[in-house]
Amino acid sequence: MKILVAYFSYTGRTEKVASLICENFSKFKVEFDLVKIQPILNLPYIFWLLLSFVPKLPFPLKKFKLNNVYDIIVLGTPKWTLNCPPVTSFVNFLRSNFKDAKKPKVAFYITYGGFKEDAFIEKFLKIFKANGFDVVEFDKFKRRDIDEGRVLERIENFVRKIFVHLNQSI
Ligand SMILES: Cc1cc2nc3c(=O)[nH]c(=O)nc-3n(C[C@H](O)[C@H](O)[C@H](O)COP(=O)(O)O)c2cc1C
Repeated sequence: MKILVAYFSYTGRTEKVASLICENFSKFKVEFDLVKIQPILNLPYIFWLLLSFVPKLPFPLKKFKLNNVYDIIVLGTPKWTLNCPPVTSFVNFLRSNFKDAKKPKVAFYITYGGFKEDAFIEKFLKIFKANGFDVVEFDKFKRRDIDEGRVLERIENFVRKIFVHLNQSI
């Protein structure tokens, strides 16, 4: 079983969740690759905020490589108003990279402050579905819960459910 964990994180919460997910994969002796989605520029908050109001706007990424054929891609993104441009670029990459190829399954999670997160999730569900990706699992983790260490159990559950979809028993 080949797993890719890919995430973008601006202030560290989505990264924290990604590393907890990876810890669980390691605990269950499952191998994974990790890709950190990185924009070519590190913009100040105010610029990201402005860009985040433009739906579907991509932002160029630093080069990255997928080293394997993956059964599942686990994508982590922060919730940004209407759009998180670096993640939009990554999703665009997935769409074109797997256009005529066997598509990996997708699981994703968002981290968020506490405002309109479900609409953000719906957008991801819609775009993956429209492009033929099977979303097997998704979840949301609130910033405060991550900061206060209240997500460990839910992350373990998230990982377990992913295994179930991949027909692996742990
Ligand atoms: C540009 C920007 C826009 C954001 N917009 C929202 C929002 O609309 N709703 C929300 O709940 N949180 C919003 N947040 C808060 C983030 O989703 C939250 O802090 C998230 O956990 C950050 O993840 P990170 O630390 O991995 O960057 C926004 C943060 C940024 C930087």
